[in-house]
Amino acid sequence: MSGRRAPAGVSTPGPLNPLLEGRREYPFVTLDRKRRELVPPGIEAIDFSIGDPRERTPAFIREALKGAVPEVSSYPSISGQPELRAACAAWIERRFGARVDPATQVLPVNGTKEAVFLMALAVVGREGGEARRTVVIPSPAYPVYESGARFAGAEVFFSPLGSEDGWRFDPDRVPDEVWERTALLWLNTPHNPTGAVVDRTALQRVAERARRSCFWVASDEAYADVYFETAPPSLLECGAENVIALHTLSKRSAMTGYRSGFMAGDPRLIEALRRFRPNVGVATPEFVQRAAIAAWSDDAHAAQQRALYAAKRRLLLEAFGRLGWQVEASQATFYLWARAPGGDDVAFVERLMRLGVLATPGSFLGRGGEGYVRWALVPTLERCREALERLAARDL
Ligand SMILES: Cc1ncc(COP(=O)(O)O)c(C=O)c1O
Repeated sequence: MSGRRAPAGVSTPGPLNPLLEGRREYPFVTLDRKRRELVPPGIEAIDFSIGDPRERTPAFIREALKGAVPEVSSYPSISGQPELRAACAAWIERRFGARVDPATQVLPVNGTKEAVFLMALAVVGREGGEARRTVVIPSPAYPVYESGARFAGAEVFFSPLGSEDGWRFDPDRVPDEVWERTALLWLNTPHNPTGAVVDRTALQRVAERARRSCFWVASDEAYADVYFETAPPSLLECGAENVIALHTLSKRSAMTGYRSGFMAGDPRLIEALRRFRPNVGVATPEFVQRAAIAAWSDDAHAAQQRALYAAKRRLLLEAFGRLGWQVEASQATFYLWARAPGGDDVAFVERLMRLGVLATPGSFLGRGGEGYVRWALVPTLERCREALERLAARDL
C-alpha cells in the first residue's frame, strides 16, 4: 500500500472524494432531527416541508405501466422509445407552441434530478486552456444544481434573487467577466422555492445572452404545469439554440416514484448527452416509458391536479392573510413563499414544529432564503384544514 499507512491490524478505507467527507449536515437531515426533538409526542406532524405530492397517480397511467411489464426483460436504450419522444415533442407543442424534433432534440431521463446532477459533468471543461468551468446558479435554488457542479469540479457563481426583483433572475446582474468563463447557467421557472415565474421577455434576454456569450442554459421547468392563472412560458419558446429544457412527470402527473422526465433542446447538446449518458446507466425502463407516453399524451389529468393544488393554495392564502403573514411571488408551483413572522426563519419553523406543523426554513434552501419559509402544498385538503386549526389562535 502506498501513501497512508494503517497501524498493524487495522484496516482503513481508501481516500474518499473530499465532497463526501464534508462535515456539514444536509439541511433536510437537520430538519428531521429538529422534528424529532420538537414535535410533541402523540401528535402526527402535518408535513409541508418536502415537495413530494401525496395525490394519487391517475389510474390510466398505472394501468399503462402494469400492461407493459414484459415476460422477458432486456436493457432499455438511452434514447428511449420513438413513441415516447414523439409524445414529449407533441406535449411541448401543445403546451408552449414550440417545435422540437423528437429524433434529434428529445431525450428521456429517469426523473429530472439525475439529469440536473449530471449536466455539469457533460458540459464543464477540464482545467487549463480556454476551458469554461463556471456554473451560474440563481439562489436560493434546488440544491442539486450546486452539488452537480461541485462533483464536476466546476466553479459556482451564485446570483442572488430577491424580493425587490420579484425573485426573478436577471442576466444583467451577472458581470460580463463571469459570463465569459461560464459553461452553464441554471434557470428554474416556475421557481422552487419561491414560485416566481420568468416572463417571455425576460426569457428572451436570457436566451440572447447565452448565444452572445456562448454558454449553455439548462432551464429546469419541472413545475411548468403547476400554475393557477396564466400558463408559464418555456425557454424553448425563444428557440432551442444553446438551450435545453428539463421536464418531469413527478409534479404534473403525481408520479415522483416512477422517475420519469425528459430533456429537449439544442440538438448539439442532446447528441453530446446521448453519448455521455450510457456511461452512467440511466436509461429509462420500458414499462415506465409506456406509462410516460400515456401521461404526456393527456392534459386533462394535469388540469385536475392543478385544481387540487388551487383549492389548497386558496385555503392557505386566505388563512395566511388573516394571520397577517406576507406571501411573495408564489404565482406557480405548489409552494408558497412567505416571510417568517419575527424575521428568523429557523426559529419560526421551530415554533411551528411545537404545534405539529412542518415547513422549510428559506435559509435551508440556499443563500438569499433567510427570513422566508417555504410551504409545500402537498398534504391533502383535509390535512391542510387541520394544520390551519393548529395554527389559529396561537401567537406565532
Ligand atoms: C426545481 C426542481 N427541479 C427538479 C426536481 C426533480 O424532480 P424529479 O427528479 O422528480 O423529476 C425537483 C424536485 O423536487 C425540483 O424541485
